[in-house]
Amino acid sequence: MFPRGVAVGMTRRLVHIICLVVLLFAKDIVMVKHGDFKTCQQSGFCVRQSAFADLVDKVPSFGSQYELLPDSLKIDEGKGVVTAHLLDQKQKTPFIFELFLLEHDTARVRIKEAPPIKPRYELLGDLALASSLPASVPIAKVNRTSTGEEIAVHFGVSGKNLLVLHARPFRFELSVNGVPAVSFNDKGYLYYEHSRSKESTPALENQAASAADGNVPVEEGANKDDEITKLQEALNKDLWEETFNGKTDSKPNGPASIGFDVSFPGSSNVYGLPQHASTFSLKTTRGENREYDQPYRLYNLDVFEYILDSPMALYGSIPFMMSHKKGVSSGVFWLNSAEMWIDVEKSKGTGTLSKLASYIPFATSKETSATTTSTHWMAESGVLDVFVFVGSTPNDIFDSFTAITGRPAMPQHFATAYHQCRWNYMDEQDVADVNAGFEKHDIPYDVLWLDIEHTDGKKYFTWDKTKFPNPETMQNNLAGTGRKMVTIIDPHIKRDDGYYVTKEAREKGLFIKDKDGNEFDGWCWPGSSSWIDYTDPAARQYWAEKFQFSEYKGSTPSLYTWNDMNEPSVFTGPETTMPKDALHHGGIEHRDVHNVYGTLLHRSTYEGHLLRSKNEDRPFVLSRAFFAGTQRYGAIWTGDNTAEWGHLAASVPMILSIGVAGVVFSGADVGGFFGNPEPDLLLRWYQVAAFQPFFRAHAHIDTKRREPWLFGEPYTSLIREAIRQRYRIMPYLYTLFWQSTQNGSPIMRPMVSEFPEDENTFGMGDQFMLGKGLLIKPVVQKDQSSVDVYLPKLAVWYDYTSLGKVAPSAAGVLNVKTPLEKIPVLLRGGTILPRRERIRRASNLMLHDPYTLLVALDHKGEATGTIYADDGHSFRFREGKYVLSELSYSSGTLSARGVRLGNDAKLSDADVDALSARVERLIITGLSALPKKVELDGRQLEFTGEKVDGDVYKIVVKDPKAWVGRDWKIHVE
Ligand code: NOJ
Repeated sequence: MFPRGVAVGMTRRLVHIICLVVLLFAKDIVMVKHGDFKTCQQSGFCVRQSAFADLVDKVPSFGSQYELLPDSLKIDEGKGVVTAHLLDQKQKTPFIFELFLLEHDTARVRIKEAPPIKPRYELLGDLALASSLPASVPIAKVNRTSTGEEIAVHFGVSGKNLLVLHARPFRFELSVNGVPAVSFNDKGYLYYEHSRSKESTPALENQAASAADGNVPVEEGANKDDEITKLQEALNKDLWEETFNGKTDSKPNGPASIGFDVSFPGSSNVYGLPQHASTFSLKTTRGENREYDQPYRLYNLDVFEYILDSPMALYGSIPFMMSHKKGVSSGVFWLNSAEMWIDVEKSKGTGTLSKLASYIPFATSKETSATTTSTHWMAESGVLDVFVFVGSTPNDIFDSFTAITGRPAMPQHFATAYHQCRWNYMDEQDVADVNAGFEKHDIPYDVLWLDIEHTDGKKYFTWDKTKFPNPETMQNNLAGTGRKMVTIIDPHIKRDDGYYVTKEAREKGLFIKDKDGNEFDGWCWPGSSSWIDYTDPAARQYWAEKFQFSEYKGSTPSLYTWNDMNEPSVFTGPETTMPKDALHHGGIEHRDVHNVYGTLLHRSTYEGHLLRSKNEDRPFVLSRAFFAGTQRYGAIWTGDNTAEWGHLAASVPMILSIGVAGVVFSGADVGGFFGNPEPDLLLRWYQVAAFQPFFRAHAHIDTKRREPWLFGEPYTSLIREAIRQRYRIMPYLYTLFWQSTQNGSPIMRPMVSEFPEDENTFGMGDQFMLGKGLLIKPVVQKDQSSVDVYLPKLAVWYDYTSLGKVAPSAAGVLNVKTPLEKIPVLLRGGTILPRRERIRRASNLMLHDPYTLLVALDHKGEATGTIYADDGHSFRFREGKYVLSELSYSSGTLSARGVRLGNDAKLSDADVDALSARVERLIITGLSALPKKVELDGRQLEFTGEKVDGDVYKIVVKDPKAWVGRDWKIHVE
């Protein structure tokens, strides 16, 4: 036996050695298996909530335990607020129910314990919602049954929205223009685990057993009693402690989970709930023919080599879901940052429709036979704070959801261009060589990225002095060619007393604490690390200040930031993340804020960029973890994908799902992070990513180099061409980014949001629209010589390259040949698309180049388009320093109108000229005959014309000398 002190010393040394070995293989220790992540059956609250739902299905009286007390009802018609007491009849626990009617056809429903024995976390609003929320709207009309059992509240323009509240059992339904849209607690799954002390258990859930007495339907051959007993037992699973893979969650506050159901009557599709490597229209996870045997999980996790077609949790979580059926769209957002599981179930019929019938006499028979999608939401803690949105189209829902969670930030122009990254560009010479490679091969790019190896021992805000002795010169050299640099800055801080960030943050008490109140110690890239607590305003302020040029030595104004590992990833933690019982500012448990943690780092870095530029420069920060509201701070990417065709295919529904949930600026690692893509896979990836919002190539440190010119011909030329495609459409793309700052519309859009009347598009996630005008379908298989594309019949379509009109089959399918140089890109008739054809080495060098306008006529011979332009980097656009041009083509006239909004009435012609450029080429396709002349202000314009496929004519007008942002008309006669 060793004396105690010696033993401790030896153990420390041993731990140290083990850690060093572990570090040597740092890349491999994250090689987690799927058994390293919980299933619902391994998560106490998921078991309990699912058991409750199963009990309700088997013994319906379980689902009737919540009642609104009619006598307590208060309605403030002017303010659009309804409040009441809600009683859990079985547990005799009182709750407060609050309903707030808001602008944007939004209803907010809050249910809280009154009061809880232990405080429940509900500070999230300040962290996740927009700084100013939509105003309340008055109630247009209220109907109440004499007993007060049903209250019908009309709100919105002309009272088109109707919310019917039922007291017993408690539930509500929302319809729009008489059509049922959303129904809450229709299935009776509402189950709010009230706070309690450990001593007050035996769990009240046990009493539930008696409620079932005599109500148990007996099925042949099944021992129902056993089943019910098991389910009842499951209601008590892991209330006060939970162990997974040898790691114990101490749960000092006991159970606090919440579950409820939301149904979308008559709707077969639900979307959103990112992040999952799954389909765009979510699959079923409950019911007999369910497609997944697990619910969708929302819990920010660093999942090594994630599998495809799975509801497993990934790096980001947005508890937002959208649904659409013809004429009605709806959305649900649960403001809650705790771990969540969501089941999706489809059934025939419309569920609540019959119950709504007295209010909606015109419920159609067609709808009664439709499918209803029901969803069951389960969160580990927090409060029930749910926003319900209704509208006619998905665009209405994007607008409403981002009115609540914030509009996307306007990125700098360079950020929307092509980015070159790998783990790692090893030193300054490597950086210079890569930069020279792009020059030599005449391939444009805007940003070169440095991963963790650029630091001194994974201490962020520092440089490896041997490899990067002159970081400022390196950045300035790039800036000299119009390019930027990004460095990675993660939230784990090396526990090294000589590291100034550790020292300062420790002194200020800014680190997350473990359950016993000591600084939390876990492992990440630097080895033993602590994590900054971004929930603490003081920590956010401290972090933001670290980006000052005087603080971050070696940084320059052209250096931007990448925040990684912010789920947070903790190699030694449960499920590779922070223990749930770790403590944040104010004693808040990590379990309550887990899913928002990464976004708070993102926010804090964003604020740091603002601070360092004195609010002059728009920040650019890429984050891996995300939550609702992330769009206010910048871009995200889909994490560590693999160089496989399946991952290329999966990137499309993943980016779509993230985009409909407000985070419009996202992309996938081009080429795939793990593994070595074959050249054709890499090329196909570039070809589609050129049309996706965030366009960055990235690769794991163990992969072969894959800069675009390394694969020889024809690949170098074809990848060059794919990247050039991106640079050509940047005026269009930048305009889309600006539009999304106005209304939250995704840049990359699902077919359903552009064609909400076409039911064929509702389940579609393998092709997408870039804005309104371009339809893209990726090639996601090797040697695929042709691809079928679905083209909604409501539109006329043109091949984007030939500009000939295409002829889809009667079913709307077009088979497009896909030789290596081409993926299907279709231009929608009715579009005016601005392009820049003079490709330069970096996008900012093109900002003053002239435009080419591409006009594709619809079946009425018309088209519309918008061009937004500003200085590309500052916030002066907020003061009106931008150009907005509305273009329309009709009856042979192309009209341009410079729109002056807000304060920009002061914009002079000189300002317009400074911010904009002239049109150097006008292309019109879809004409029924060649025109005789083309004129601007009586001035004849030179043009050429030809007949293209589909029996239409295309003309190219040379240099009309018309300025974007000014008013003019061009006549085509
Ligand atoms: C994990 C990130 O997902 C990956 O993109 C990055 O290269 C590595 N961390 C190293 O920083």
